Amino acid sequence: MTGQPLLQVRDLVVQYDGLRALDGVSFDVRRGEFLGLIGPNGAGKSTAFGAIAGTVRPTAGTITFDGRPIQGLAGHRIAKLGISRTFQHVRLFTSLTALENVTVAAATRHRSRRTARLRAQQLLEHVGLAHLATSPVAALSLGHQKLVAIARALANEPCLLMLDEMMSGIADHEWSHILSVLTDLRDTGLTLIVVEHIMEIIDRLTDRVIVFSDGRILAEGNSLDVQAQPAVRATYLGEPIA
Ligand SMILES: Nc1ncnc2c1ncn2[C@@H]1O[C@H](COP(=O)(O)OP(=O)(O)OP(=O)(O)O)[C@@H](O)[C@H]1O
Ligand SMILES: [Mg+2]
Repeated sequence: MTGQPLLQVRDLVVQYDGLRALDGVSFDVRRGEFLGLIGPNGAGKSTAFGAIAGTVRPTAGTITFDGRPIQGLAGHRIAKLGISRTFQHVRLFTSLTALENVTVAAATRHRSRRTARLRAQQLLEHVGLAHLATSPVAALSLGHQKLVAIARALANEPCLLMLDEMMSGIADHEWSHILSVLTDLRDTGLTLIVVEHIMEIIDRLTDRVIVFSDGRILAEGNSLDVQAQPAVRATYLGEPIA
């Protein structure tokens, strides 16, 4: 299947009651690509993640992952095929430790509790949190919680990882660490899609950017070219590009 895009989205429509959140969206993602999804609030970015990950049911269109159609499959089946995501608002078991949180996720790939725990330990080391493994998640900073969420998503051993606003709300000094963790993932061959409002992160992390607006694709290209387009600048009026 080399040469084929890892993910193909075609004519995707998501209708929520009276609102068309996605209105015929088509794009491809190459294997190993780091893609940015940007666009104003309500543009449909998280809805696109939900449709790909199986938490939002597409109204129409197709989503093909690694050559097979996945639109409408249940989230756990899509996860099993190798797609992981994180949520805009961190969803963790706050009373459990960082290690327990990641072990629960690793248990979906490893039957033995011991192996799951070892894998979780490895992943926490990988994201630079080994020293906080036994801390309850509730006691961690938001930046550290986001790293636990990344480790949990990686514990599913995905080919495609989708991160929804990983950097929002976290302190500037925590950015650079998260950014370097994500950049290091390139060496593993992982394919990454990030939704992010902070353009500096998009510029530094991604190969290509797709701009959503009102449920459609407004522009596509490398980050700086896309930001220079008048239609993109107009869409961000009142919501200036950082
Ligand atoms: N479960 C839902 N039911 C009804 N409407 C929804 C639902 N989820 C999202 N919407 C609406 O769909 C539109 C797209 O929302 P979505 O969350 O995908 O946007 P977004 O681009 O991720 O925005 P943001 O940058 O604010 O996170 C918005 O108008 C939103 O209010
Ligand atoms: Mg969103």
